[in-house]
Amino acid sequence: MRLGAVVWLYLISPLPALAQQESRASGYSNILWLVITLMFLLQSLLIIGLQRSRLNNKRARKALKESQRELERKIAERTESLHQTNNRLQDEIARHEATVLLLRETQDYLHSMINSMPSVLIGVTHQGYVTHWNASAAFNTGISADEALHRHLNEVYPSLPISLATIKKTIESGAPLVNENMQQGQGTEARYMDMTIYPLIAAQGIGAVIRIDDVTLRVKMEHVMIQNEKMLSLGELAAGIAHEINNPIGAILHSVQNIYRRTSPELASNHEVTKNLGINVEQVYEYLRERNIYSFLEDIKEAGERAAKIVTNMLEFSHVSNRNTSLMDLKSVIDHSVELSINTGEAKELKVKPPKIVKDISTDLPGVMGSAPEIQQVILNLLRNARQALASDLQNNAEPQFKPTINIRAHAEATHVVIEVEDNGPGMPDSVKSHIFEPFYTTKEVGKGTGLGLSVSYFIITEHHKGKIEVDSTPGKGTRFTIRLPLPDKKM
Ligand SMILES: Nc1ncnc2c1ncn2[C@@H]1O[C@H](COP(=O)(O)OP(=O)(O)O)[C@@H](O)[C@H]1O
Ligand SMILES: [Mg+2]
Repeated sequence: MRLGAVVWLYLISPLPALAQQESRASGYSNILWLVITLMFLLQSLLIIGLQRSRLNNKRARKALKESQRELERKIAERTESLHQTNNRLQDEIARHEATVLLLRETQDYLHSMINSMPSVLIGVTHQGYVTHWNASAAFNTGISADEALHRHLNEVYPSLPISLATIKKTIESGAPLVNENMQQGQGTEARYMDMTIYPLIAAQGIGAVIRIDDVTLRVKMEHVMIQNEKMLSLGELAAGIAHEINNPIGAILHSVQNIYRRTSPELASNHEVTKNLGINVEQVYEYLRERNIYSFLEDIKEAGERAAKIVTNMLEFSHVSNRNTSLMDLKSVIDHSVELSINTGEAKELKVKPPKIVKDISTDLPGVMGSAPEIQQVILNLLRNARQALASDLQNNAEPQFKPTINIRAHAEATHVVIEVEDNGPGMPDSVKSHIFEPFYTTKEVGKGTGLGLSVSYFIITEHHKGKIEVDSTPGKGTRFTIRLPLPDKKM
């Protein structure tokens, strides 16, 4: 607007001078007016143009402002949506972190669960490389999980009694393979395992989980139970037979006794009978002696007495026996048994150097309820067996430095008293050991062993005293019998 007024004043300011010139030269006046009019028109057009461009400018500015506002609105909108997305993303991250934490916790939990299991758990690949190794596996093998992982099973667990071929076959079959009571080692060192192979299809690939449980205690308990059952039925049988043959043996011995008496010249009634018959007692006696009849009778008597002794032993199997139980002084029972064992004729008969008997009896042994003669019989049986075993060893074993020894020990534990009789004799293989408590089982020649010593001892300890008797034996090293007798009012 201001610019238009300035231009107008500039255009009209020379007009009075032009009028004075008209008077001097009127020819030019029309042209001048035309020029002026044209200029005026031009000026007007210019002003109009300017005005329009101003208007356009104003409109454009307005449009610009509007689009700027629109842009700002859109930016705000987008910012808001970005903000929301960002919030959502942050929520998602938080949730993700919580899930990761939970996952780690679950993993740790599972890990410690697997590790706290008493079973050995080993994960392997199809090729036998270790993928998992729990704490029990580490404990059993002495190889830590870090050392075992990714190594071959044969390398880290060479004593495992299953082959890679079996593992592969199990994986291929898809069904678990169960092997129960697998034995490892022999004799007292024998251990029993239950072994299961589970085929596994995991994200990491195909493999298997091997689970090993040490069931030695269970198997040993089962053996004891089977043994008990067997012993009970055999014991009943033996007691039944003993009752049946007790009377015939009694009759035999009684009759032998009568033959001695009725042929003896020392008995007055014999003289009377022979006199009536017209013969002489001394002649009858002489004849019988000459024909060795008395020596036959002696044999019959000896055999009969041996049979009677066996029967007496066998009667121990029957539960009805006249037993006197009292609080026993085990130390004196043991001392007495050892003394008797040294002084028996049987011990002197063994024609080898007698074993050294080493006693280690705790001085404060508590009293145990039971029958002292029965416990003495058991200890005598064990000492006799040890002596016989050592004697046979000495006969077969020429080593001069061998020192036959029997150790007899006794001490108290929380609920029971433990008595051990141990020798360094020949020991016995498993095939013998599993039968020794059976009645009539013997490895000794006829006349030397009846096979009743241990079975009677077993009954005395387990049935009469509610205790336990066990054997540990290693061929070539020796044998140890362990007796446990419960203390009064304490259950084992
Ligand atoms: N200390 C021992 N060392 C080696 N073997 C033994 C020992 N004690 C017992 N035995 C074995 O146990 C078997 C049974 O013993 P036992 O019942 O006392 O009967 P017996 O002594 O009459 O043979 C014996 O024949 C012997 O084979
Ligand atoms: Mg014996």
